[in-house]
Amino acid sequence: MSQSDWTAVDAYLVEALQAPDPVLEQALADSAAAGLPAINVAPNQGKLLQLLAQTQGARRILEIGTLGGYSTIWLGRALPPNGRLISLEYEARHAEVARGNLARAGLAKQVEVRVGRGVDLLPDLAGEAPFDFTFIDADKASNPDYFAWALKLSKPGSLIVVDNVVRGGGVTDAKGDANIQGIRRMMQMIAAEPRVTATAVQTVGSKGWDGFCLIRVVT
Ligand code: SAH
Ligand code: DHB
Ligand code: MG
Repeated sequence: MSQSDWTAVDAYLVEALQAPDPVLEQALADSAAAGLPAINVAPNQGKLLQLLAQTQGARRILEIGTLGGYSTIWLGRALPPNGRLISLEYEARHAEVARGNLARAGLAKQVEVRVGRGVDLLPDLAGEAPFDFTFIDADKASNPDYFAWALKLSKPGSLIVVDNVVRGGGVTDAKGDANIQGIRRMMQMIAAEPRVTATAVQTVGSKGWDGFCLIRVVT
């Protein structure tokens, strides 16, 4: 079993359980037309993020790594009417595409995309915290910083989800590149952090072999 099988099964699952969504499809089309890389979450992963945020009853959501706003739309739609999502993006060009996609999704009022390096923008978010749900999905080398900030900006009961913690199996390479080192150091931090309880699961699908780490803030 490999990529073509995983893609076929994802196509089946999405077709079986998820209605066609012109707004999300246009978001991907506009992202591609603007030359953004197709490294958004898969449709069934987006729905998973949405279900998790809904289960949280999330009113404040933080995302690190907006790209064209695809995962942002999934999460923004989990918000109640008075809810708010802040998404951080380094590339102004990506943020511009995302803002267009979010406006088309009717989320312009509830979602704010801030442009800059995650590590530079996170210290400014104390006034918006605590976040009920955080999705970490930017440069993987910075994951230790992102986890530390997400924890600081959380409260007991908050959920933090980290994308791409498996990287086609690369996470097991103790001598891996800066991205792998970032994931592995974050894992060590999580393991040593008494305020959280966490697990990680591998995924295969249309976006390849990867995984999510789920971290619940306990105290
Ligand atoms: N969450 C998106 C995908 C994000 S891809 C989705 O699933 O639809 C990762 C994004 O992180 C890219 O847009 C990239 O420009 C951005 N990024 C890279 N380095 C960053 C940094 N230091 N701070 C904030 N964003 C960064
Ligand atoms: C990459 C980043 C992602 O967030 C992702 O989901 C897949 C790939 C990357 O930088 O290659
Ligand atoms: Mg990702």
